[in-house]
Order: sequence, then C-alpha cells, then structure tokens
Amino acid sequence: MNVVGAEGNQLRDNLRRVQEEVDSVFDAFMPVPADTRARLVEAMRYAAIGGGKRVRPLLVVSTSELFGVDRNAALRAGTAVEAIHVYSLIHDDLPCMDDDDLRHGKPTVHKVYDEATAVLAGDALHALAFEILADPGTCSDPFVRSELITTLGTASGMNGMAGGQMMDMVADEEGVEYDLHTITRLQQLKTGALLAASVEMGAILGRVAPEGRAHLRAYARDIGLAFQIADDLLDVEGDQEKAGKALRKDDEQGKQTFVTLMGVDKAREQARAFVDQAIAHLASHGKEADTLRALARFIVERDR
Ligand code: IPE
Ligand code: IPE
Ligand code: MG
Ligand code: MG
Ligand code: MG
Repeated sequence: MNVVGAEGNQLRDNLRRVQEEVDSVFDAFMPVPADTRARLVEAMRYAAIGGGKRVRPLLVVSTSELFGVDRNAALRAGTAVEAIHVYSLIHDDLPCMDDDDLRHGKPTVHKVYDEATAVLAGDALHALAFEILADPGTCSDPFVRSELITTLGTASGMNGMAGGQMMDMVADEEGVEYDLHTITRLQQLKTGALLAASVEMGAILGRVAPEGRAHLRAYARDIGLAFQIADDLLDVEGDQEKAGKALRKDDEQGKQTFVTLMGVDKAREQARAFVDQAIAHLASHGKEADTLRALARFIVERDR
C-alpha cells in the first residue's frame, strides 16, 4: 500500500518535475506590472509559485500521457486547474472562512498583504485559469479549448468546489447534521470535483470521446474521496511542521467529515478501499498508467 521503493522515487521525480514546470508557467503568465496593481500580482505570485504538491497538474499530465498529448498543452491545462486550486486556498484561509495563518509553511496571503488583497488575488487567479484555457497557445483546437473551459467552470462553481465549500461552512450551524451520503456529496464537490476535472481534462486533450472516459471518471471519483479523507486524517494525526498548515482545527470549527462520522481507523480503512477501487478501474491500461496508480497510493499515504 505504501508508496515506497522505485515507485515512490519515480513519483517524487514526476512531482518535482511538474512543480518546476508549473512554477514557470505561472511565472510567465504573471509579470508584475509597473503600476499600483503590483501588490495584486505580487500576492498572486506569493500564493501560486512554489509550495503546493501539484497533484492536480500531475493528474492532467499523466492522464494526457496515456493518449500521447503534447506536454506543453497538458502543463498549461494543469496550471489552469492549479490556479483555481490556489484561489480556493487563499479564500479558504480567510478569517471569514477557516481563518488560517499558515499555508505551505508560510504566512497566508491575508497575513502578508491584507484581506482585500487576498480576495482580489483569489479573484484574479480564478480569471487567469480561464484565460490560460482560452489561449490558442494552450491548444490550437477551439472545440477542445471550449470543452476544457466548460469542464473546469463546472468543477469550480456551485456544482463543484464553491458548492462544496458552502456545504462545509453550513456544517457548523446548529441543527445541521450530515449523514454519510451528504458528507460524501460535500467532499465530492469541495475536493473531488477539481481532481476529477484534472483527469477529465487530460482525456479531453487526448480527444477521448465521453463514452471512452467512464473508467477514468470512476478512478477520479475514488481518488477524490480518498484525498479529502486523507486531508481530514492529517488534521487529526498529522505533523504540522510537515503539513505546512495549522492542524487540529476541524473539530473545533465544527467540520463534518468521514473522520468525525466514523472515527480515524474506519476512515483510514475507507480511504484505502477507495484507493484500491481507483486502481482497479485502471485495469485496462498497462504500464503507461503507473503514474496514476502511484498517485492514487500517494494520496492516502502522504504526510502533507
Ligand atoms: C488541500 O489540497 C485542500 C484540499 C482540497 C483538501 P492540497 O493538499 O492538494 O494542497 P497543496 O496545494 O498541495 O498544499
Ligand atoms: C479546503 O478544504 C478545500 C478547498 C476547496 C480549498 P480544507 O479547508 O480542509 O483544506 P485545508 O485543510 O485548509 O488545506
Ligand atoms: Mg475549509
Ligand atoms: Mg481550510
Ligand atoms: Mg483540511
């Protein structure tokens, strides 16, 4: 189950390479202007460059590799997903949401700048995602670009990440008691949607027809659920130094998760079961899907 040995090393190399590549795409898209917008772009760069694991871009790249997609196109699409992810984290950390002071081992954006700048940096990263996808330099085919935009838009909005964040915020209100079905839905929206969009966008770039994507969607659904359970387990038993963010907060903030519902051991068992199921969905692929398999294992075994 552990991502160790050759598989672990290979995955770490893959992540490191994508981290560098995503940083350079962000760098190219965010030159600091020589006017009073500089503060905004500096805050965007502070949040977006360096720090994250880049799981979503690696999902786009590794899925698209199954279909021989040009790496530059996949990286740009992956950076677009990451721009949404980074924006969601900036807003998630705001005092009106989770009120966090630490992210990626450094002070959060609103701590270094101010709340207004953090809100605007999130807004501008949100927009940047779609600018990147709509750019012919990402993919020359307008039909592919349009499908990428629809997919990421749906995964980000009320039927995706933002909708899940709302359910998460409402969870601490008096009298709101989620059952397993509702928590599953919350996590699928809040976290699963962007991870699933990453896989889907790899397939879109590979010009795989929707009927041919069913097993990839099933894989993505399972890793999405496993990913948020792992995040919630980290909150309970992780090492804050390694995680680079404040832990032991979910309970105090009245979050409702698989962990609060079924306890640590059952939740871990459940996450591992989702990972095994995810890997089983890749059975029709050979070695070319090994990075997706390794990523699935990494998702539950990670310490950050
Ligand atoms: C953290 O996501 C927030 C969740 C959606 C659970 P990641 O763990 O992917 O964040 P970084 O960018 O790698 O820190
Ligand atoms: C955040 O979930 C999910 C997002 C959409 C940003 P969490 O609030 O649990 O993420 P962390 O623990 O702050 O990274
Ligand atoms: Mg949150
Ligand atoms: Mg949070
Ligand atoms: Mg969390």
